[in-house]
Amino acid sequence: MKEQIAQIKEKALSEIQNAKDAKALDDVRIKYLGKKGELTLILRGMGGLSPEERPIIGSLVNEVRDELEAKIENGEKHFANLEIEKKLATENIDVTMPSKKSSLGSVHPITQIINDVKEIFIGMGYEIADGPEVELAEYNFDKLNTPPDHPARDIQDTFYITDDIILRSQTSSVQARVMETTKPPIKIICPGAVYRSDSVDATHSPVFHQIEGLVIDKNISMADLKGTLAMFAKKCLGEKTLVRFRPHHFPFTEPSAEADVSCFVCGGKGCRVCKGEGWIELLGCGMVHPNVLRNCGIDPEEYSGFAFGFGVERIAMAKFGIDDMRLLYENDVRFLKQF
Ligand code: DAH
Repeated sequence: MKEQIAQIKEKALSEIQNAKDAKALDDVRIKYLGKKGELTLILRGMGGLSPEERPIIGSLVNEVRDELEAKIENGEKHFANLEIEKKLATENIDVTMPSKKSSLGSVHPITQIINDVKEIFIGMGYEIADGPEVELAEYNFDKLNTPPDHPARDIQDTFYITDDIILRSQTSSVQARVMETTKPPIKIICPGAVYRSDSVDATHSPVFHQIEGLVIDKNISMADLKGTLAMFAKKCLGEKTLVRFRPHHFPFTEPSAEADVSCFVCGGKGCRVCKGEGWIELLGCGMVHPNVLRNCGIDPEEYSGFAFGFGVERIAMAKFGIDDMRLLYENDVRFLKQF
């Protein structure tokens, strides 16, 4: 029996040696080690052996099986490597071929202004805040010291979803949310879409964009507000830009002001962009009303602050010389890619 095993081994080894490919190796495996393979049959036939012979023959068969299996595996690895080498030799890549062109779009003018403004305020240590566009009237109005009978709350101006839920009409709503959840010092700006029930024309749209700013800390004064806005105007609209303040009224600030900038197109002499005025109305601002601080859990005896808010479209139109707001929303690529 030992001799028979040795013969099988010799035969199998020479077949492995002569195998031309992986398939031939697999055939060898089936022929000798498979369920009905020659070596397997020997193991099956061991019943007829004496108890002394059985372990000797058993371990011999196992040894031969392990050796054949190892040789077959080695051979398979060899053929797999050959396959890879063949591929590497034939499938070469031509790195000088021209690549497929991907067409890059351009950043929308509104997004450009938002990005510029963010950069300027981040440079002054501000953080970017965010809030919901579907907002509680409480945050858009009540907490901002705007009483129920205020004209801004009329359905002619504001979109109502229910009596208490609206589409925010100003990014000022984010002020209340930030103050409620943040312990001063607070220095944020919040860009975002706002909604008003206006009909569409060259200067109005029911959806437009605002950027809100809020600073709360100890000893914040109107001088800080003026200095901040003067710096912002220079960085955003040009080093020569001047800011002037006119008294105004907002429910959430006291005192309140509107700020104009000297026309950055004509330098103040009067032109088409500033409609001959030399000044362009820029934003609303003021010192945060003590009632607002109190409504949002901040002690007005300890802290004070300023806030401001402006329309992004207005700046984009003045800066890029666009005279009809509708162009910004039509998304005609031929128009948009000029900027
Ligand atoms: N929310 C005002 C508006 O939509 C703009 C504004 C004015 C924002 C004064 C402010 C502010 O934060 O202090 O017209």
